[in-house]
Amino acid sequence: MLKQLGELASKALDELNKVSGLKEIRTWQTRYLGKKSSLTQILRSLATLPAEERREIGARANEIKATFEIELARKKKTLEKAKIATLVKQEALDITLPGYSISPGRLHPTTQTVREICSVFGNMGFQVVEGPDVEWDYYNFEALNIPKSHPARDMFATLWVDFETENGDKPMLLRTHTSPAQIRVMERTPPPIRAVIPGRVYRYEATDATHEWMLYQIEGLAVDKHITMADLKGTLFEFTRRLFGDKRKVRFRCDYFPFVEPGVELAIDCTACDGAGCRLCGNTGWLEILGAGMVHPGVLRRVNIDPKTYTGFAFGMGVERISMLRYGIDDIRLFYSNDLRFLKQF
Ligand code: PHE
Repeated sequence: MLKQLGELASKALDELNKVSGLKEIRTWQTRYLGKKSSLTQILRSLATLPAEERREIGARANEIKATFEIELARKKKTLEKAKIATLVKQEALDITLPGYSISPGRLHPTTQTVREICSVFGNMGFQVVEGPDVEWDYYNFEALNIPKSHPARDMFATLWVDFETENGDKPMLLRTHTSPAQIRVMERTPPPIRAVIPGRVYRYEATDATHEWMLYQIEGLAVDKHITMADLKGTLFEFTRRLFGDKRKVRFRCDYFPFVEPGVELAIDCTACDGAGCRLCGNTGWLEILGAGMVHPGVLRRVNIDPKTYTGFAFGMGVERISMLRYGIDDIRLFYSNDLRFLKQF
């Protein structure tokens, strides 16, 4: 039987060598590897052979089967290559036809706006830093002149993570604004400081077209000798122009934030009606885009910066609001509801 196997192998491989078409190759495959092929028959009948013979013949038959399979695959590849080559030669196969393009995805509109804003400030000499999303009460409130039971705490509907306990655990929360990062930057960096801090903030809030419980802010901080309100105005004026275009008018008005003095609110003339008054601006002609002010001396003192030598300004803006104004988006919930019909537009 061994001899028979040997002959079978050389005959089959010989024939395979002569095969010149893909159809023929299938015939060969059925003949030598198919269910009715002698090789399969031999492999099937192994069980009926005496143990000694079974081992020898089984090994040889399996070896031949493996060789057949390898040679068959090799032959197929060669024939396919040859076929493509002929098709190309006959120009029946147009290899210049563009393939299906792969859709590469894109950055989320918020990420795009964050990057754009950071790059505007980056070009003005600000460096981008980050702070933690989960904060101590101290950074989010205390250090920013908002002690416990101060009414200004009501400005921020807070998501608490941990309350103060008798055994000394400190209260912890999801930061309600990026301002705590001001403190962290000042604690570890001596002036001069120029920093922008993008990140998520969280509020205990019912969602509607203008409120989300999670949103992005970008904080700005500059601390140095001789920084004045004029620097604040100049910087933010330049920022709004770079982001919203040369035509925009800018308005500063007094506002209150416990950690700045004086505090201001910045508005631009409405992007939809150019200041005439419309639904977007509530008929006022103005859109508020950020809060800002001169860093409060008490805040500076707390981080060991002498307010007699140094002054600074800070600002904070909501990223989604800015995207909404720039692109005419009328519902903040669209940003994080993951609807591709919305996201694909950016
Ligand atoms: N943190 C303030 C807010 O979330 C914004 C702000 C930042 C105001 C810095 C003044 C200075 O409303």
